[in-house]
Amino acid sequence: MASYDVIVIGSGPGGYVCAIRCAQLGLKTACVEGRDTLGGTCLNVGCIPSKALLHATHQLHEAEENFAKMGLTGKAPSVDWKAMMAYKDDTIGQNTKGIEFLFKKNKVDWIKGWGQIAGQGKVKVGDETHEAKNIVIATGSEPASLPGVEIDEKTVVSSTGALALAKIPKKMVVIGAGVIGLEMGSVYSRLGAEVTVVEYLDHITPGMDGEVQKGFQRLLKKQGLDFVMGAAVQSVEKLKTKCKVTYKLRKDDSEATVDADVVLVATGRRPYTGGLGLEAAGVETTERGMVKTDPHRKTSVDGIWAIGDVIAGPMLAHKAEDEGMAVAESIAGQAGHVNYDVIPSVIYTHPEVAAVGKTEEQLKDEGRAYKAGKFNFMGNGRAKANFAADGFVKILADKETDRILGAHVIGPMAGDLIHEVCVAMEFGAAAEDLARTCHAHPTFSEAMREAALACGDGPIHS
Ligand code: NAI
Repeated sequence: MASYDVIVIGSGPGGYVCAIRCAQLGLKTACVEGRDTLGGTCLNVGCIPSKALLHATHQLHEAEENFAKMGLTGKAPSVDWKAMMAYKDDTIGQNTKGIEFLFKKNKVDWIKGWGQIAGQGKVKVGDETHEAKNIVIATGSEPASLPGVEIDEKTVVSSTGALALAKIPKKMVVIGAGVIGLEMGSVYSRLGAEVTVVEYLDHITPGMDGEVQKGFQRLLKKQGLDFVMGAAVQSVEKLKTKCKVTYKLRKDDSEATVDADVVLVATGRRPYTGGLGLEAAGVETTERGMVKTDPHRKTSVDGIWAIGDVIAGPMLAHKAEDEGMAVAESIAGQAGHVNYDVIPSVIYTHPEVAAVGKTEEQLKDEGRAYKAGKFNFMGNGRAKANFAADGFVKILADKETDRILGAHVIGPMAGDLIHEVCVAMEFGAAAEDLARTCHAHPTFSEAMREAALACGDGPIHS
């Protein structure tokens, strides 16, 4: 039986980052993982494989839609689905092996198997019990289904099955217009599937800025995605050759159905704590199954910490990573801080959507006086050259002090562009600071500067 300073349970972005940081801070560290590969949902069945498929299908879209416009002529590429799956699997493999390498490099022990907390300072894996001064729960989340809907990962799939379909469906119904539904819906739509998104609310991507929701939905419709809004899915029936999705419209309670070869259920995720033995160990959870933590991510039991999807907050890999680093630093006696006000979120469709800080709706609710500086990518030379001029940047700043309160972007590389605002917000910058920062020409980032200029005397190119 080995004894550690820290045992992290789960090797997703929260867990593996926490383990590596603990080791870097001189703590004897192990990470328990029951999957055959490290990296958790993100690397194995989430962020990374979905980005591989988004990238591949975006390239296809470029070839089909834009190559000829640039004088690139010839036979359009065709899709070899098996080869595309192999490319996706190879991407996963490279990334998961990368974590294995980092564990070895940093001397983090990988304890293979599923961990169970067997009391304070004890983690049972298989027949062995390991001791640790600190335990970090980083077990992540799992897809949440709907009552009356049984996921078989073949025809009725969660995000996991959607990443490994046997063939490209002709008709796909996506339940839920959240991040997963729209990313995977985009993938299959670009591959030629007829995609219908059925969403309970009257808008897509709950929590996003209202103007972004509207603009984004318009662009997705233009790309061919069909939306049924304000519709609560009641059931999914598996027939011989297809599935029948029944939904009820909220406005008049009328019922309707839509058929599909494949149904993707993307109605959210729930914390994954199965088999951890939390109750027996005295670790308190909320009614919704989340592990309760204090602001330092300590659970109700001394020496047991929790991070990532299993605790409150957005279920985002980078939020989990930040919490992992913070807990490692707290264990090592350092400050261990996460700024929850500056956590970006990104949807990796094309164009990408990215946001950080407050939405206009939140600022209105708070009664805060603000100004909005907006700039359309249509005025950005690089975007026009690249057939990527759809979308806009919106920067929200305090009306009096000009301090940046939020930013919302639909457009090329939005997921990368957003980070200059994140840095600016970390430094408490004003929109003018961003507007006075020289931005290289011609880059998409000039649109960020122009939106910041729009908070003051106005942008140049609109
Ligand atoms: P989500 O919470 O983003 O969206 C779920 C959607 O389903 C909501 O719009 C909701 O109104 C709708 N819905 C719920 N019940 C319904 C019903 N009966 N009928 C019709 N619609 C219904 O959840 P999603 O997309 O499954 O993602 C899960 C988590 O994974 C999220 O926290 C997300 O942030 C995270 N994630 C993040 C990614 C990224 O950062 N790019 C990528 C993929 C997932």
